[in-house]
Amino acid sequence: MSTIDVRPLDPDDLRSAHTLFGAALHHAPADDAAWARIASSYSPGRTLGVHEDGALVATATSFPSEMAVPGGAVLPFAAVTRVGVRADHTRRGLLTAMMRAQLEDVAARGEAFASLRASEARIYGRFGYGVATRGRGVRVRADAALVRADAPRTGTVRLLERAEIAPVLRDVHARIALRRAGGMTRNDGWWGLLLERRLEVDRAHVLALVHRGPDGDDGFALARLGDEPGAGFAERRLDVVDLHAADAAGTAALWGFLLGTDLIGSVQGDLRPLDEPLELLLTDPRACAVTGQGDEVWLRIVDVPTALAARGYGTAEPVLLAVHDALREANAGVYRIADGVAERVGPLGGPVRPELECGVAGLAMAYLGDRRPSELVATGWWTAPDAAAVPRADAAFATATSPWCGTFF
Ligand SMILES: CC(C)(COP(=O)(O)OP(=O)(O)OC[C@H]1O[C@@H](n2cnc3c(N)ncnc32)[C@H](O)[C@@H]1OP(=O)(O)O)[C@@H](O)C(=O)NCCC(=O)NCCS
Repeated sequence: MSTIDVRPLDPDDLRSAHTLFGAALHHAPADDAAWARIASSYSPGRTLGVHEDGALVATATSFPSEMAVPGGAVLPFAAVTRVGVRADHTRRGLLTAMMRAQLEDVAARGEAFASLRASEARIYGRFGYGVATRGRGVRVRADAALVRADAPRTGTVRLLERAEIAPVLRDVHARIALRRAGGMTRNDGWWGLLLERRLEVDRAHVLALVHRGPDGDDGFALARLGDEPGAGFAERRLDVVDLHAADAAGTAALWGFLLGTDLIGSVQGDLRPLDEPLELLLTDPRACAVTGQGDEVWLRIVDVPTALAARGYGTAEPVLLAVHDALREANAGVYRIADGVAERVGPLGGPVRPELECGVAGLAMAYLGDRRPSELVATGWWTAPDAAAVPRADAAFATATSPWCGTFF
């Protein structure tokens, strides 16, 4: 088989790359006006491509961001996106070649992780990505009276004028998003494309709210009318596009405002945090229907020693964990987690005998706190040469809140 030549694309190739990616998702090419906005969301030097006979046939890109991990540390990561292979070139190893090249590039940039949202769940596990956060879909009957009178409501909610939306949301997001493990920073390209395009190009009516708590603005919500053909005024659905709150009081206030909006029958949110306390805030918990649950963040730990050392751990007796990584040998080894600190203490197969073993995708599933090691042992993602270590690992990896990102890219 001939080698696949993956190269960084020149700026002049980015529009072709975008068209190729769009076509892979069955989208039409961007027109000139749309491209003028989209172009700046490509981070220089981070788009890879494969050419064949002079034509671009595969592409993948990323942009730099930062992610909060349990314990509060924030690590640089590559937000991988716009992955596509031309339909007449699939299943020939082009994605595999791009993923390998991209992991090398991410490592060379000193970024601890790569992360993405997967169009299909069967694509990325083989490259060491694991589901590291999940979210749930909810549909809540709209009725302001539903929020319990004694639910904490320590702040006020204000409706934002159109011109205020972008600056206020950016400011509040920057302040609160990294408080939860899995939260990430959003760069100019993200805001420019995904928020301002929605507001200025779609010209949709959006409801934008900011919550002010005791220490200033600490939550926001962006919602718009959902597409529900034939619904009468009072049965229409409001879709939450973006909602972040620092605590339960902000959550109660923002959801309470949306639920109290006139001429709305329900409010729907997708990929909301698993522990968002909606049922606990409502007088009728059944007014909140869970419509689904799905994977949110796919995480590829690119630098395992750095990632394990940066994370906080629960109080537990020491654990010896072997990590395997077929694509990045530098990550392989036996790690000791003790007294809140993780460090590599030996190579695989060396004198230090591990109590638990996992691959790098299985590690990603526990890393942010989404899955307990015991669940992963029970389902074969991890193995436990010493079963007594399993509860210790559960205690070490446990987190108080569900990890959640809340930023789609
Ligand atoms: C998904 C996509 C990028 C895969 O590219 P590709 O070049 O065909 O992938 P590869 O040839 O490197 O495949 C590697 C392996 O993954 C498997 N695989 C790839 N895509 C798969 C899919 N969608 N479902 C199941 N398996 C898949 C291949 O069968 C192959 O397995 P093998 O090694 O056992 O033979 C390509 O099909 C595509 O562009 N799809 C549409 C757009 C899209 O979904 N992009 C991803 C956005 S997150």
